[in-house]
Amino acid sequence: MSNSTIESVLQEQRVFEPSPAFSQAAQIPSMAVYQKLYDEAAADPAAFWAKLAEQELDWFEKWDTVLDWQPPFAKWFVGGKINISYNCLDRHLTTARRNKAALIWEGEPGDSRTLTYAQLHREVCQMANVLKGMGVKKGDRVGLYMPMIPEAAVAMLACARIGAAHTVVFGGFSAEALRDRLNDAEAKVVITADGGFRKDKAMGLKPAVDAALDDNAVPSVTNVLVVQRTQQEIDWTTGRDVWWHEAQPTVSADCPAEPMDSEDLLFILYTSGTTGKPKGVVHTTAGYNLYTHMTFQWTFDIKETDVYWCTADVGWITGHSYIVYGPLSNGATSLMYEGAPRPSNPGCTWDIVEKHGVNIFYTAPTAIRAFMKMGDELPKARDLSSLRLLGTVGEPINPKAWMWYREIIGGNNCPIVDTWWQTETGGFMLTPLPGATPTKPGSATKPFPGILADVVDAEGNPVGTNEGGYLVIKHPWPSMMRTVYGDDDRFRRTYWEHIPPKDGKYLYFAGDGARKDADGYFWVMGRTDDVLNVSGHRLGTMEIESALVSHPSVAEAAVVGRKDELKGEDVYAFVTLEGTYTASDELKAELKQHVVKEIGAIARPGEIQFTDALPKTRSGKIIRRFLRNLASGEEVVGDATTMEDQSVLEKLRQGN
Ligand code: PRX
Repeated sequence: MSNSTIESVLQEQRVFEPSPAFSQAAQIPSMAVYQKLYDEAAADPAAFWAKLAEQELDWFEKWDTVLDWQPPFAKWFVGGKINISYNCLDRHLTTARRNKAALIWEGEPGDSRTLTYAQLHREVCQMANVLKGMGVKKGDRVGLYMPMIPEAAVAMLACARIGAAHTVVFGGFSAEALRDRLNDAEAKVVITADGGFRKDKAMGLKPAVDAALDDNAVPSVTNVLVVQRTQQEIDWTTGRDVWWHEAQPTVSADCPAEPMDSEDLLFILYTSGTTGKPKGVVHTTAGYNLYTHMTFQWTFDIKETDVYWCTADVGWITGHSYIVYGPLSNGATSLMYEGAPRPSNPGCTWDIVEKHGVNIFYTAPTAIRAFMKMGDELPKARDLSSLRLLGTVGEPINPKAWMWYREIIGGNNCPIVDTWWQTETGGFMLTPLPGATPTKPGSATKPFPGILADVVDAEGNPVGTNEGGYLVIKHPWPSMMRTVYGDDDRFRRTYWEHIPPKDGKYLYFAGDGARKDADGYFWVMGRTDDVLNVSGHRLGTMEIESALVSHPSVAEAAVVGRKDELKGEDVYAFVTLEGTYTASDELKAELKQHVVKEIGAIARPGEIQFTDALPKTRSGKIIRRFLRNLASGEEVVGDATTMEDQSVLEKLRQGN
């Protein structure tokens, strides 16, 4: 991380204590209580989690062993039988929560829907029975390619109910990306919709599913279940495709939850890494249920009457853990919004807060920066007084955005929880507990109880106060990823051997750099690897490079991140062309479109620079450091003497 970034992080020195009123009513009301929990968990993590598992979740059968740790493979609550769909639904039906709103949904064109726990349970049972009718059994995989509609949550819970693992593919990914993921997971059924609304437009989803499955390209898929949302014209494959609204009335609303082993596969979620192929992150049942349940409860200090809104998409881990499983396991009301702030109504986010009296609002720094840019008038013209707690996730938040969030959205009255975590961690790892932790703008503060985090050097030795290093976790936790789907070796190499294990002690390396200040607060500084964070979305540079070189004109490509005021980072690609092609603006546009086709719009390069050659070391490795400097218009720093051809750098500086 550059010095200028550290300086900008350090500029804001203020510390914000929770208000006495907030603390008094909070579940974790003080640092003393936090510290007690933290110490208790650190002294005996297994006992700490076992106590909570017993108190907080419903089990069909209790476990024999809390933790079986054969580094780097962990098993939690071994021998236990549980179902997360049961914990999210059935157990609330015998309480006053039966008729409480489980999901409040706002559709983009203005339609809205509320599903109570009883209604959600009914729909989930019906969809589970439709899946069963398609031959889906315990252990099978089901692909989801959905807009942000209640049926996305229904589908996840329906899979979990019958013991089928879901793999949700974000609706913004292309047909090609969808096909790869469905094939890797060998999905039996795909659940999708005709389309969804986003920024005043109906976007097609079913056409991408058709394209992904074309020519029997995913032989494992036998059926496609289609939810009607936009009523667009779509192609139909008789025998394979089934409308949800036609199937729903034909099945029973009774479908008991399947008792699952604690370690049975719950879902696979693909995420970008440093190599070309996205990794299928594997999460299992009991540990994930417990950890998302506890982190949601304590970090959001959830109250029975709260309306909670997380603006993520269910296609990402944030949607899995903190729109669906964490909130519903706690019997909370979770608001889902279909779209993004749209041209015809830039104030819609705040309209929704006002309309539903949202109490807890959780979003990403990139969204906060976009709201800032839209101006203070939009939030100021709405009544946001229902808000009592704000959250952020996805990338380091710049103190300026943090302060704006606090003052303009929170009215200086709401604690902000900056939650650091990852697809791999399943739930929050570093986070304030809002009634306890004094917050510092830009810091994700301290580890959640039960999480032993540190900042270390390349050998695994702790670094000094305020020294930069690698952010690691030193002890397994219940919702940690179990492996890379079908590739234990990649799991071991990627996460556990980057920092070599010492004396049998393994450190989980997250891929992020961080420092710890004198108060023990963590400051996450971003990825140390070739992973970009564009608007809070994770993209591998290799993935984009592979997409570029699959175009006939491209000989070689190197992708780096360029700082971007709104997105945090933007994709910047250096491209050398095959001999018969010449650089042009048309080709630039075509290559950008090619990346969209191969991966999806989120990976579209902001800039492509054609060049005759890429800077390389004598052994032929591309020197990305130089490219990063060039892309950001910075002075090229570092030693250029190892370069094979010094003139390459000069030419690149001149823009060719
Ligand atoms: O670099 C960190 C950044 O997002 C990465 C994880 O991305 P993903 O698996 O897509 O999950 C995003 C939502 C949990 C991390 O390695 N990141 C996430 N939250 C923060 C963050 N960086 C700084 N501060 C955060 N609060």
